[in-house]
Amino acid sequence: MSKIVLITGGCGFIGTNASYHYLKKGYKVISFDNLYREGSKENLNWLKKFTPTPKFGVGARGKFIFIKGDIRDDKKLLITFKKYKPDLVLHLAAQTTMVNSVKNPREDFEINALGSFNVLEAARESKNKAVMIYSSTNKVYGALSYVPVIEKEKRYEYDDLKGIDEHFPLDFHGPYGVSKGCGDQYFVDYARIFGLKTIVFRQSGIYGPRQFGIEEQGWLAWFTNCLVFGKPVTIYGDGKQVRDVLYIDDLLSAFDLAAKNIEKTKGKAYNIGGGLKFSLSILELMEYLEKLSRKQFKYKFGPWRPGDQKVYISDIKKAKRDFNWSPKVSPQEGVKRLYNWILENKDLIKKAGVFK
Ligand SMILES: NC(=O)c1ccc[n+]([C@@H]2O[C@H](COP(=O)([O-])OP(=O)(O)OC[C@H]3O[C@@H](n4cnc5c(N)ncnc54)[C@H](O)[C@@H]3O)[C@@H](O)[C@H]2O)c1
Repeated sequence: MSKIVLITGGCGFIGTNASYHYLKKGYKVISFDNLYREGSKENLNWLKKFTPTPKFGVGARGKFIFIKGDIRDDKKLLITFKKYKPDLVLHLAAQTTMVNSVKNPREDFEINALGSFNVLEAARESKNKAVMIYSSTNKVYGALSYVPVIEKEKRYEYDDLKGIDEHFPLDFHGPYGVSKGCGDQYFVDYARIFGLKTIVFRQSGIYGPRQFGIEEQGWLAWFTNCLVFGKPVTIYGDGKQVRDVLYIDDLLSAFDLAAKNIEKTKGKAYNIGGGLKFSLSILELMEYLEKLSRKQFKYKFGPWRPGDQKVYISDIKKAKRDFNWSPKVSPQEGVKRLYNWILENKDLIKKAGVFK
């Protein structure tokens, strides 16, 4: 019998790529999404083409089932768990922008904190035994302003540190940081107290095709969109901010490996990003994209955003040690693939409303 994966937020950027990944492996994919995000409807239409699948896509074999549902609806979640009895759960649904969380902190709390609790409760109440992976964020470590940073010509760097590991203190900042961090800690605790097979990924910037980058979220895709469409872009701060970045395929392989090694990974949190090797500053990204496209950015500078870290780089040694994972796709290669996808899908991106 084919395996069943339940993906909350299954029509978002990561969810759509994950759905396709598991369809290719022959899974039954249950996508649970309220289509809240720009691009989710477009992603759903794309995914629907793979049902019942054999004649579509390269090697796609599984079955795709869409449930229009909201993770704030605990009853619908429970019915879904009881009906489909998933073997794997990826909990990706979220309100994903800091800006919106400040505009509407109650909604942010209800989706990210209460919604994550609802997912765990549905699993517990239905006595489900799935491996459950939660997409948390590096924001749980806060501003990290106590970590010394040095300034170079085009980027900031840590003075004497390779990256942030899981021993750094949790320090939730801003409603989005608090609500995501709350889900993070509930996932860890449900393994401890109720024996659920949960894993937490504290993700850094993930990027790739089917990402509808907007100004508030998905910076790499947003900058690429602006260049391709000739729209002006604002650099908040001086553009030397550095992030480690992870191409979507590398995240999908981390999902697979962490789930496979569940005896080691259950109840644990992992920093998942490109690490020291795969990092970029805004200025470096812009330079690379201008070379790739032979176009020039239209840009201006704006004030620093509150709490914006000058550098965030994950230390990913724990993931390497526990489930032998390390990222493979360089930012040069990954950005090229994203750029090409945007070029080929300009109408779709416009239709999704990324430029409001
Ligand atoms: N993309 C990144 O760089 C990144 C980095 C760190 C953490 N994360 C986390 O990874 C997860 C997925 O991120 P993404 O980039 O795919 O985001 P996304 O916004 O593209 O996808 C989120 C999906 O969740 C859905 N959704 C939102 N509220 C919902 C609700 N109440 N009920 C049901 N569905 C709802 C949206 O419609 C969307 O399809 C999120 O939890 C996010 O916080 C992402």
